[in-house]
Amino acid sequence: MKPPFFDKVAVIGAGTMGNGIAQTFASFGSQVQLVDVDAAGLKKGLAAIDGSLARFVKKGTLAEADARAVSGRIQGSSDLKAVTDVALVVEAVSERFEVKRAVFAQLDQQCPPATILATNTSSISITKIAACTRRPERVIGMHFMNPVPLMKLVEVIRGQATSDETTARITACCEALDKVPAAANDYPGFVSNRVLMPMINEAVFCLMEGVATRESIDTVMKLGMNHPLGPLALADLIGLDVCLDILEVLHAGLGDDKYRPCPLLRRMVAAGQLGKKSGKGFYDYAAA
Ligand code: NAI
Repeated sequence: MKPPFFDKVAVIGAGTMGNGIAQTFASFGSQVQLVDVDAAGLKKGLAAIDGSLARFVKKGTLAEADARAVSGRIQGSSDLKAVTDVALVVEAVSERFEVKRAVFAQLDQQCPPATILATNTSSISITKIAACTRRPERVIGMHFMNPVPLMKLVEVIRGQATSDETTARITACCEALDKVPAAANDYPGFVSNRVLMPMINEAVFCLMEGVATRESIDTVMKLGMNHPLGPLALADLIGLDVCLDILEVLHAGLGDDKYRPCPLLRRMVAAGQLGKKSGKGFYDYAAA
């Protein structure tokens, strides 16, 4: 195995994204500290990594000894103070600015000045997060896609003050993880959600206005545009609350009414119909 791009990495937040990011770095040889304030969340994240590695072993794409080695490179902790001498931190805590602000302020205090602080945020301004630290030139967006071990793309987002050197190192790091980096600048929703969310929102408008049934809308986009999933099924997978939050960020940040969330999306979120995770969204998952 090639030496890792960064010997020691910390990942903050062991949820859906954090555990996948930790697994990916460990798979390419880094020692990883995985930190989650919630002990149960940490345990669940570590178990998710073992489950994912076991699926690769079952598929025959990973040797059992290698899976054990990957798992052995990940050390769990529930104390952010444990993060000190790492070259890179990837933050993947909940999508709330106040939570991220506290994490970045603390990391900035305790990590060496050379440590790069990356965030996996889907919609919060990288510039605003960087401004919580005294090293904005070493703060950058590293937006992995879900599920991280399988998805090739990492959107690499420069904040207003991110240096060329930080951008070059993170771009090279993505390549070393066998990912494809795509550069973006720091505007609301970056590229991925700026393009995806209006499409999903328009599909919801089509449903609300009776242009077509949910099945027809998804079939048109799947077979007509060659998308692996229709927009309504994809929204169910992402979570309708997450879609609504991102549309609000686009609407507020860009000030254009073309980003106004569809009233049907608002109504479904208010009713707790959040998609797959709640058992019901545009489709029913209760029986699944
Ligand atoms: P999640 O809710 O599954 O996990 C977040 C974890 O962070 C939880 O386990 C929570 O206990 C932990 N946490 C909260 N505050 C913390 C703190 N102060 N210190 C340490 N841990 C803390 O969230 P998810 O979905 O993994 O999202 C994480 C980030 O990734 C968000 O910024 C989100 O926007 C972004 N993202 C999510 C994607 C998705 O498909 N879920 C895709 C791409 C980005």
